[in-house]
Amino acid sequence: MIKFEIEDRQGNIQEVEIPEDINLSLMEVLKASDYPVLATCGGMALCATCHVEVQRGLEKLGGPSDAELDMLDTLPDASSASRLACQIKIGSHLSGMMFKLKGE
Ligand code: FES
Repeated sequence: MIKFEIEDRQGNIQEVEIPEDINLSLMEVLKASDYPVLATCGGMALCATCHVEVQRGLEKLGGPSDAELDMLDTLPDASSASRLACQIKIGSHLSGMMFKLKGE
């Protein structure tokens, strides 16, 4: 199982546990776990409504793509730890990480 933590926009932290052999993005897992992530573009790195800030484990992720960086640049509250959850593939490397939901 892969376990990581999510902090919602109210500051509540919950552990999410998912099987390793799942072919989903973090955005899809957040939506399936009933987090309020709009994901209006469906995971195409075009809407930035899946904005998360990596609170722990940023070094485990590869760098963002140019398309992801371009979208993050449009966000007033982006930081160097900001990522688009739709561009993060679920894998065992996410274990122990922590993500904070951003946006509205
Ligand atoms: S779902 Fe639109 S940018 Fe991630």
